[in-house]
Amino acid sequence: MCGIVGYIGQEQAAPILLEGLSRLEYRGYDSAGVAVFDQAAGTLAVRKAKGRLQVLSDQLHGGADLNSTAGVGHTRWATHGAPSDVNSHPQVSRSGRIAVVHNGIIENYAALKTFLLDQGVPFTSETDTEVVAQLIEYFYEGDILSAVGRALRRIQGAYALGILCADFPDQIIAARKDSPLILGHGEGCSFLASDVTAILRHTRRVTYMEDGDLAVLTREGITCCNSLMQPVRRKVVQVDWEVDAAEKGGYEHFMFKEIMEQPEALRRCLSPRISKGEIIFEDMALSKDFLRRMSRIYIVACGSSYHVGMVGKYHLERLTRRPVEVALGSEFRYMDPIVDQHTLVIVISQSGETLDTMAALRQARQLGGHILSIVNVVGSSIARESDQVLYTWAGPEIAVATTKAYTTQLALLSLLALWLARELGTVSQEEYRAALAAFQELPGKLEQVLARRDDIQYFASKYFNHNSIFFIGRNLDYALGLEGSLKLKEISYIHSEAYASGELKHGTISLIEEGTLVVALGAYSRLFPKVMSNVLEVKSRGAGVLALTTQTHQEEMARIADAVMTIPEIHELLLPCLGVVPLQLFAYYVALMRGCDIDKPRNLAKSVTVE
Ligand code: F6R
Repeated sequence: MCGIVGYIGQEQAAPILLEGLSRLEYRGYDSAGVAVFDQAAGTLAVRKAKGRLQVLSDQLHGGADLNSTAGVGHTRWATHGAPSDVNSHPQVSRSGRIAVVHNGIIENYAALKTFLLDQGVPFTSETDTEVVAQLIEYFYEGDILSAVGRALRRIQGAYALGILCADFPDQIIAARKDSPLILGHGEGCSFLASDVTAILRHTRRVTYMEDGDLAVLTREGITCCNSLMQPVRRKVVQVDWEVDAAEKGGYEHFMFKEIMEQPEALRRCLSPRISKGEIIFEDMALSKDFLRRMSRIYIVACGSSYHVGMVGKYHLERLTRRPVEVALGSEFRYMDPIVDQHTLVIVISQSGETLDTMAALRQARQLGGHILSIVNVVGSSIARESDQVLYTWAGPEIAVATTKAYTTQLALLSLLALWLARELGTVSQEEYRAALAAFQELPGKLEQVLARRDDIQYFASKYFNHNSIFFIGRNLDYALGLEGSLKLKEISYIHSEAYASGELKHGTISLIEEGTLVVALGAYSRLFPKVMSNVLEVKSRGAGVLALTTQTHQEEMARIADAVMTIPEIHELLLPCLGVVPLQLFAYYVALMRGCDIDKPRNLAKSVTVE
């Protein structure tokens, strides 16, 4: 989704803006632009270009062409109007004196545009953002903050905004509602960004803007007010992510780096939470009383985080004997969910900003549910609106396709399932001990899987030319297949579907023909014989089978399958955490061989802040 960076300070702004935008490239975009104050001329200088940020950077000679110490930059992910120079941000008002960068969607932009057109305001782009710039100018009578406030009161929808006005060269205005925006506090300078990674090189002191907030950034500092224009104080927090955690560090792709970081990320996520044979969740707000009355659990998430929820359902139901529903964020709010004060709602999100998930959280909260979120980005919107947050501590994830966030979410949700079972008295002492030991073995076992990545690369070289690939499995393996299939299709563009293998005979098997590739997942020992029957079923119809199983079943599987990927034995609670790794590597190597843009797959964005 769109990325915003703003800077006001003593140094040249354009190079800082371009560098900041390059750190937001991972979010997905199709054009870029910057606007700075041209102090000598008393005007705004705006430069935009369709395509990669490099195109803009080359045009501006790395920013050297723009002489100014304050400005805003933007990478656009098209929603209203095709990617083009004219639709790129910043969008300017008719006089050119107000420039706006925007992330989000203005829902009533058509009505506002009609109103402004009726007033004789000409438009040059198809964007909803131009409406914001024109509307601010419409209300502008010399006080820019008040004009922004009046415009925002008429705007419906989601926005993170960075605004420049040529008459106020010593300030940038920021505003947010339902789209992420952070403020950075530096020495003699201030920053604005969609995401901390854009400004981490300059400052670690940040403020997360709240919904409805407006901020005025100057070289001396930042002041905030709420939607009623009353001054408010917002917390300054220290971000402890390492600067180089958001860099490739010698790897060709962020995705590969993040796959390789998984053992470390899991150690960070799990070690502080397991001590002396017990699970420790600091500040756990789920009281014994709530747990005793807890009648159901809802898991709400999107994409890969939803797949984590699919695995979680199996674990939670088996361990806690409570009914568990898993819902997509985008469906939850339209399905009249049955949530009350006895419902635990587990919200899963890497970014903590996914709009559909956020909307579901708010609805669940209104219905009285107790919200526990599993989030990676500290201080993100979902984290802030939850009753309780469990952070995954995976570090910044830059590649669009999630890997280390998925495994840490999964490990944490599994740990939570075990903790709940312990609290509810629904797990035996033996299983509790065995499972807990497995959590401690997980990072080491994951290292063993990574060490054998050459095998996976070989399989990828055998199969990368297929046009359609099916993933089959049962229970935990089915949930794992959903993620394996998503990983493959999103970065390699190969058509792929995941099916519960028992479902094949109810329709899908008609698609299996000579040469079709089926990835058969048989890691879950309890159901291994069942998956074997399905492997025979597809083999006898001509399919090629690439299987995944544990070392115990490797030989048996190899008798039928064409190729076998193996993982070490581990407690079933953690099987999917290990099993997903060969599937991530398979997707990665296949995409590499097909020459795809792995870290920034087409049409996709990292943080999906629109509905
Ligand atoms: C796929 C992927 C997406 C995200 C989804 C939710 O690799 O990364 O499917 O899982 O957009 O994002 P979060 O977890 O940030 O809410």
